[in-house]
Amino acid sequence: MLIEVRDLRKYFPVGGSWSDILKRKHKLLRAVNGLNFNIERNEVFCLTGESGCGKSTTGRLLVRLLKPTSGQVIFEEKNIYDIAPREFRKYRKEMQIIFQDPYESLNPRMSIYELLEEPLRIHNIGDDEERLDLIYRSLRDVGLEPPRDFMVRYPYQLSGGQRQRVMIARAMILNPKFLVADEPVSMLDASVRAGILKLMMELKEKRNLTYFFITHDLSVAYHICDRIAVMYLGKIVELGPTYRVILDPLHPYTKALVEAVSRGEIMYRRRPKDISIKGEVSNPIDIPSGCVFHPRCTEAFEPCDKEEPELIEVEKDRFVACHLYK
Ligand SMILES: Nc1ncnc2c1ncn2[C@@H]1O[C@H](COP(=O)(O)OP(=O)(O)O)[C@@H](O)[C@H]1O
Ligand SMILES: [Mg+2]
Repeated sequence: MLIEVRDLRKYFPVGGSWSDILKRKHKLLRAVNGLNFNIERNEVFCLTGESGCGKSTTGRLLVRLLKPTSGQVIFEEKNIYDIAPREFRKYRKEMQIIFQDPYESLNPRMSIYELLEEPLRIHNIGDDEERLDLIYRSLRDVGLEPPRDFMVRYPYQLSGGQRQRVMIARAMILNPKFLVADEPVSMLDASVRAGILKLMMELKEKRNLTYFFITHDLSVAYHICDRIAVMYLGKIVELGPTYRVILDPLHPYTKALVEAVSRGEIMYRRRPKDISIKGEVSNPIDIPSGCVFHPRCTEAFEPCDKEEPELIEVEKDRFVACHLYK
């Protein structure tokens, strides 16, 4: 096991003035509301769910870009939030993140050379010559060839796919163990998407990486992820091996997500769609009582609006939080 997440929570204060917040009269938006799961070494662990369910917040918490309200993220036996800032520099190298929009996350005033040199400088790696060598090799590794030509360009001179390759190179140049990828291909044209995913999978094999892959696209998840967790209003409602969860979903929410896209779309990558199912997602400020999904659930019965179902193992390796499976 590489990472263990224990009762992880992130609440954002919202809808109040500063004085309300100081008097603790403000409301809380429960973006991440009690997550428990493990990430195994070398696996591609996927997190999916509708927009706003807490995926990006979870991704940021896993690499300590955000501080949790409570809970732990244990990386190689150590809670990352207990590590002093100085010592954390070492961990920062091991855990990297790439985002959906490579244009927004690349400083437009820096050349590709400077963008790749920056993390090396921050971590005091190599002298000028060694850095040049590392930059050259990492551009090659992500298929930006000849590296000589790409080094002197600026982000605006690259296509979306090439920019995402630069982001990947920038994350990989520090030789991390763990990579959070937050919807890394959802802004890209379908034609370049497959190439980026293939590159990510090749790098994973070559460098023994572990991925936490965030996507709302079940077809992407189906093709590259080992296990998948389905999130709804800050909680995991189902978790298991990806192909089993997608081909035979157990939780009514997962069923609805899978029904919203056809099998053909998932298995043969036809026309990926955004997830959309009947009814509105409840507001994460006023979380429903009992099961968070009950107001939208077609199978809700007696206990669902009162008791919160726990995530329990209902078949080997398959976890569901639903009163139907008790
Ligand atoms: N910094 C923040 N302040 C207040 N609310 C936030 C902040 N970041 C995210 N949220 C809220 O937390 C919820 C989860 O957001 P996010 O993790 O971005 O979801 P996802 O990535 O699944 O779309 C949303 O309701 C969002 O509006
Ligand atoms: Mg997001």
